[in-house]
Amino acid sequence: MSTSIENIGVFTSGGDSPGMNAAIRAVVRTALYYNIQVTGIRRGYEGMINGDMFIMDRRSVANIVQRGGTILKTARSDQFRTPEGRKKAYQQLQKNKVDALVAIGGDGTLAAAHIFGQEFNIPIVGMPATIDNDLFGTDFTIGYDTAINTVVNAVDRIRDTAESHDRLFIVEVMGRDSGLIALRTGIATGAEAILIPGTTTDIEAIYSRLERDRRHKASKIIIVAEGEEEGGAFKIGDQIKEKYPNYDTRVSILGHIQRGGSPSCMDRVLASRVGVAAVEGLLDGHRNEMFGLIHNTITSTNFSQTIKHNTIINPNFLKIVEILSL
Ligand code: F6P
Repeated sequence: MSTSIENIGVFTSGGDSPGMNAAIRAVVRTALYYNIQVTGIRRGYEGMINGDMFIMDRRSVANIVQRGGTILKTARSDQFRTPEGRKKAYQQLQKNKVDALVAIGGDGTLAAAHIFGQEFNIPIVGMPATIDNDLFGTDFTIGYDTAINTVVNAVDRIRDTAESHDRLFIVEVMGRDSGLIALRTGIATGAEAILIPGTTTDIEAIYSRLERDRRHKASKIIIVAEGEEEGGAFKIGDQIKEKYPNYDTRVSILGHIQRGGSPSCMDRVLASRVGVAAVEGLLDGHRNEMFGLIHNTITSTNFSQTIKHNTIINPNFLKIVEILSL
C-alpha cells in the first residue's frame, strides 16, 4: 500500500446509530495497523469547524464495540452548510495536520462530505451509518438491524396489550424520508397494515382492511412511518377513531428508543468490515466514495450516487403484508 496519507481524521455526524462505535473502532485500529496516525473529531462537522480534535490510540477505542451511541459524539451543523464554515473546517484540519477523512453517517453526512472533498481536494471516504437504511450503495446501513430488532421487541409487547384488550394500535416508527424500518418490522410483527412514504398505501387501503373484518374482535397493529404523507400516527388515529368508533384505538410513538442500545451482531460485523475496507480504500487511493456491503461483498460507490435517497420500496414486501395479514 503506497500512500502519502499520514493522519486520518474520523468523525460521526447526523443522527447517531447503533454500531457507530464499532465503526470508529474499526477505522482507528485499521489505520494504526498500517502505521497511520488517527485524529478523532468530536461532534461531526461542527467539531471540525471548532477544532475539537484529539489523537487516538488503540486504547481510545477499547471496550466500545458493544456500546450504542458514538464516543465521538455527533451533531447536525448549519455552519458547515456555508462556504465560510467549510473553509474554517479545512483550516482546522490543516492546523491539526489531518490529511484525509473517514465520515461516518447518513445521507446528510455524505452529501456534505461530497461537497467538502470537491471544494478542498481532500481525500475523503464514507461509511453508511443511519437507522433509516436509506442510502444507495449498501444493502444495509450500520444501525438498521439493531433498530428494527428494537422495534420488533417493542411491538411484540404492544401486541400483548392489544391482544388482551382487543385493541387496535397505531404504532409510529422512525423514518423521516424512508419507510424501510416500517416495511420490515411490519412483516416481522405480523402487522395488519403498514403506511409508508412514497407508496400508494394510504388511509383508504387501511379502511378497506378494517372493513374486511369489522365484526372480528381481535388485536390489530398498524405500523406507520414517521414520514408518511397522511401526517403521522396521531392524525391517522383520530381519523380511524372517528370512522370506526367500535374499535378501541390507541396510538404509540416509539421515538428515539429506536436509535439507542447495544448494536446487534450484524451491525457490529458490518461496521467492522466496512471500517477496515474504508481505511484500506483510502490508502489505496479511493476518494469521494462510500464503502458498503452489497450481496455480502464490499463495494464502493461514489458519493453522488449514495446520497440519492434509497427509498425504493420492494412491492413484493407490501404484497407480503397484504397476503399474510389475512
Ligand atoms: O435519520 C435518522 C432519524 O432517526 C430519522 O429517522 C428521524 O426522522 C430523525 O433521525 C430524527 O432526528 P432528530 O433526533 O435530530 O430529531
